Amino acid sequence: MNYLDALENTSDQLFEYIRVPPARDVPGLEEDARRGLLSQPRSLPPKYFYDDCGTELFEKICKTSEYYPTRTEDFLLKRHAKDIIETAKPTNIFELGSGSSTKTQRLLDACSEIAHFPSYTAFDISERALMFGGIELSKRYDWLQISLLLGDYEAGFMNVPRENGSRLVLFLGSTIGNFEQKHAIQFMKDLRHNMSQTDRLLVGFDRVKDRHILDAAYNDSQGITAAFNLNVLNVLNSELGANFEPKNFSHLAQYDADKAQIEMHLVSSCAQRVMLNNLREFIDMDAGERIQTEISRKFTDQSLTRLLSDSGFVVKKDFVSPDEYFSLVLAKPI
Ligand code: AVJ
Repeated sequence: MNYLDALENTSDQLFEYIRVPPARDVPGLEEDARRGLLSQPRSLPPKYFYDDCGTELFEKICKTSEYYPTRTEDFLLKRHAKDIIETAKPTNIFELGSGSSTKTQRLLDACSEIAHFPSYTAFDISERALMFGGIELSKRYDWLQISLLLGDYEAGFMNVPRENGSRLVLFLGSTIGNFEQKHAIQFMKDLRHNMSQTDRLLVGFDRVKDRHILDAAYNDSQGITAAFNLNVLNVLNSELGANFEPKNFSHLAQYDADKAQIEMHLVSSCAQRVMLNNLREFIDMDAGERIQTEISRKFTDQSLTRLLSDSGFVVKKDFVSPDEYFSLVLAKPI
């Protein structure tokens, strides 16, 4: 079912929504799979985790006792929301990778409290999460004008019409950690390029910490992260006509302290051939062979400041949680 199309036909327009086409060529799943799966070391970009099932599993991960980032960032948002809104004075809050916009409510609550009423734009790849978020927010904030943008925000940001006024761009959840350094800088430079002097950027950074805490966060005891990781095989099966057997793979997530990143893999538990029918290719995997499905980089004050300044931003405020697990950084264009 197409949720957004269904909504369009209702008489009450709860929100505006737009499908945003990429502004530049971005590889689709076929090309990414060709590039990543057919040569070694095998890998896949993490954005393919987020079909409806994967999005739901991710939301469950966020509620596990081991996965501290969501909880910690939410605490920081709650604690500093007023300060952030008063400092940025946005006329529009623009969120990249909004999911169902749960954490955003902290900022919107602060807006209600101080009677500052910006509009809200959510940009996400998951139609279902966008819609649920949009409905929830329209119920909670009667003053809020909402736009939902569906698409790949990495290439689509440039295609979004700019209104007058000041934007507060949100990039939460430490999603920036999914990008290699060069890629992260490129992405942030693109953002910078589309922001004016009075716009502000709020980014969540997961911080370097004891490896036991990191390892546990990506190996929760209920196996939800494992299910989330394995679910990408179902995505490949349905989108690529592949025939991966999830039971022949296992979840592996390890912290590499030198690189300051979690590396997540799917490990083949036997020698097996997998067909990728839409590509007219197959891959032979040995027992123990891996597909890297995600990196999740962890930051220090130094590395996050560096990343921001290399991309054309300066840190205005760095809100660090008391346990120093997470940083919420308000930055402005240089
Ligand atoms: C949403 C990309 C920030 O890297 O921690 C959670 C995704 N992967 N558990 C992260 C994820 C495994 C998450 N990000």
